[in-house]
Amino acid sequence: MKINSKVEEILNKQINAEFWSAYLYLSMSAWCDQQGLKGCANWMRVQFQEETSHALKFYDYVLTRSGNVKLEPIEKVDQKWNSMLHVFEETYKHECLVTELIHKCYDVALAERDHATTSMLQWFIDEQTEEESSVLDIIDQIKLLGEKSGGIYHLDKELGARVFVDTTQTPAP
Ligand code: FEO
Repeated sequence: MKINSKVEEILNKQINAEFWSAYLYLSMSAWCDQQGLKGCANWMRVQFQEETSHALKFYDYVLTRSGNVKLEPIEKVDQKWNSMLHVFEETYKHECLVTELIHKCYDVALAERDHATTSMLQWFIDEQTEEESSVLDIIDQIKLLGEKSGGIYHLDKELGARVFVDTTQTPAP
C-alpha cells in the first residue's frame, strides 16, 4: 500500500534530522581531532556513519512504499564545545531529542493506522535506547576519571577502537 502523505511528510523530516545528526557528529569529530582527542574523533566519525545509515534506512523505506523522497537543505552546526565531557553531554541531549522525533513519527503512523511504518519504526525505538545508554556510559567514565587525568588517555584509546558496522538491516540490539 502506498504511503499516505502525513506519514510521508514526517518520514522526510526524519531523513533530514538523521542527516543533520550525521553533520553534527562529523563536526564534533573534527573538533575532537583538533584537540588531539584522536580516539574521540574516531568514535564521532563512526557515529557520523551510523547516522548516515539511519537516514538511508528511512530513505529506502519511503521509496519502498512508493513515496516521494524530498531532500531538504541541511542546517549548519554551531561548533561551541569546550571539553570532551561537553561534547558527550551534547551528544546525549541530541540523542534524547532524536528519540522524541522517532516517537512523533510513531504517533503519526499509529494515528494513520499505518502498521508497516510502526513496525519499521520499532527498530529505531530500540536503537535509540541503546544509543542513549552507550553515550551515558561514556559520560560516566569521563566523570569518574576526571578530564585532566591520565585515565582519559586510555578512554580516548578505547574510543579509537570503535568500528562502523551497518546494523540497519538487522534487528536492533
Ligand atoms: Fe539516528 Fe543517533 O539516532
